[in-house]
Amino acid sequence: MSGPLDMLLGTWAGRGRGFYPSIEPFEYTEEITFSAVAGKPFLAYQQRTRHATEDRPLHAEAGYWRWVGEVSAEGATLVEVVLAHPTGVAEILHGTFAPAGSGEAVLALASRSVSLTATAKDVRDTARHLVIEGDVLRYTMRMGAVGLPLQDHLEAVLERRR
Ligand code: HEM
Repeated sequence: MSGPLDMLLGTWAGRGRGFYPSIEPFEYTEEITFSAVAGKPFLAYQQRTRHATEDRPLHAEAGYWRWVGEVSAEGATLVEVVLAHPTGVAEILHGTFAPAGSGEAVLALASRSVSLTATAKDVRDTARHLVIEGDVLRYTMRMGAVGLPLQDHLEAVLERRR
């Protein structure tokens, strides 16, 4: 506890929508947990999703959200994120976490590199934008994949459960 990303701590649950020009749109439920490791400059992250109407798992991901250096005079913190996906994709993102008022913050991340296993879908770049307002977390995720330029793949709204 008591790091610059504390606003993310806890378990969040909610719903999202997914789309991309090459696939059918879909809806999903999601649960995310951010946990602190005492004395370490990162939060551990676990995410899983299920199809909103069909009883089956969809995407899952896990990783670490690291903060780097000092908090700036404006309150912003540099963030580095390392994520692994069971689809054979590994994402590394850099960005900033910037408080935007009492209990509010914006976390803007863009991929620095995306690595793929031999059989993974061709993901070239990603971007994630999170807005935290108290116990509500909204995010969008964009990707450039399967030959298409960076554009929306996901949007979701989650609430903190504990
Ligand atoms: C909430 C998280 C996510 C959910 C629920 C989700 C769900 C889906 C679904 C249902 C599809 C279409 C069917 C399929 O190919 O399985 C899909 C396609 C895809 N997703 Fe996601 N996804 C998520 C996150 C991601 C992330 C983080 C990436 C990349 C890092 C990604 C990359 C892709 C790609 C490359 C495709 C295939 C597009 C194509 O073949 O035309 N997804 N996703």
